[in-house]
Amino acid sequence: MPPKLDLNNSLKIENKEKTLAIPPVKAKLLEGKRGLIVGIANENSIAWGCAKAFRAFGAELAVTYLNVEPLARESEAPIVMPLDVRTAGQMEAVFERIAHDWGNLDFVVHSIAFSPKDALQGRVADVSRDGFLTTMEVSCWTFIRMAHLAEPLMRDGGTLFTMTYYGSQMVVKNYNIMGVAKAALESAVRYLAAELGPKGIRVHAISPGPLATRAASGIPEFDTLLEKAKAKAPARSLVSVDDVGVTTAFLAHDAARLITGETLYVDGGYHIID
Ligand SMILES: NC(=O)c1ccc[n+]([C@@H]2O[C@H](COP(=O)([O-])OP(=O)(O)OC[C@H]3O[C@@H](n4cnc5c(N)ncnc54)[C@H](O)[C@@H]3O)[C@@H](O)[C@H]2O)c1
Repeated sequence: MPPKLDLNNSLKIENKEKTLAIPPVKAKLLEGKRGLIVGIANENSIAWGCAKAFRAFGAELAVTYLNVEPLARESEAPIVMPLDVRTAGQMEAVFERIAHDWGNLDFVVHSIAFSPKDALQGRVADVSRDGFLTTMEVSCWTFIRMAHLAEPLMRDGGTLFTMTYYGSQMVVKNYNIMGVAKAALESAVRYLAAELGPKGIRVHAISPGPLATRAASGIPEFDTLLEKAKAKAPARSLVSVDDVGVTTAFLAHDAARLITGETLYVDGGYHIID
């Protein structure tokens, strides 16, 4: 039997260890690069792990928030804007502000997903049209739209990232309609990579192992998923938002300029084990 995980306790430890919002890193590998990060809800958000890593490597950030201004000051971002991707015009307004203030963009991190409770927690066979369309709109179409809006700003090339999950490839209990949306998202990554590659724009999906975030709290029996991930992954370890952040930041570096169209697993190797 895998050891029982105490989620509350592991979250507490993570928070206790957090002394500085942006950890100091000597190698400013992304100095001079500017990018947009969408999806910071709180300190447990994958987008926050990305914000910390990109800042630590010297990049300049624009960040958005859905309801409450998230950790804005701590992210040291000069551009902080509200964004509900379902509100007409808000996504355009974010990119217009970036065009006005910066004139160019080097990376975008799309780290959002949403499915109404009855759609997410029911069988795929039973999903309503509305539930399906909302899931696909927020979790997949918005990435395609962000790529469209970023393209003219990525004059010197750039990198677009989105977050996906293994439930796109395999039937993971309780992942349901979100698995369908993530499969579409990963396919969109490949088509966008092919279309934008000639302009030096690279496109990736990052596929983290399970993390106890707010979005994950909508998935029933999520602690079972965490236990299984820890027991089965070759690394015998759960991933943190910091692990996901530094991997994403690495792929934005020019050293990764010939890597594109990937779905890159940050899961301790879980996906290679039967
Ligand atoms: N937590 C996991 O186990 C896990 C694993 C793999 C992939 N992911 C993916 O990572 C991404 C980030 O999720 P997270 O786990 O960090 O959870 P999170 O709850 O911290 O982040 C989800 C974000 O989506 C945003 N969002 C939802 N609807 C929105 C809307 N209409 N407009 C703007 N923003 C909206 C929320 O505000 C929030 O910031 C998601 O795509 C998720 O599917 C999560």
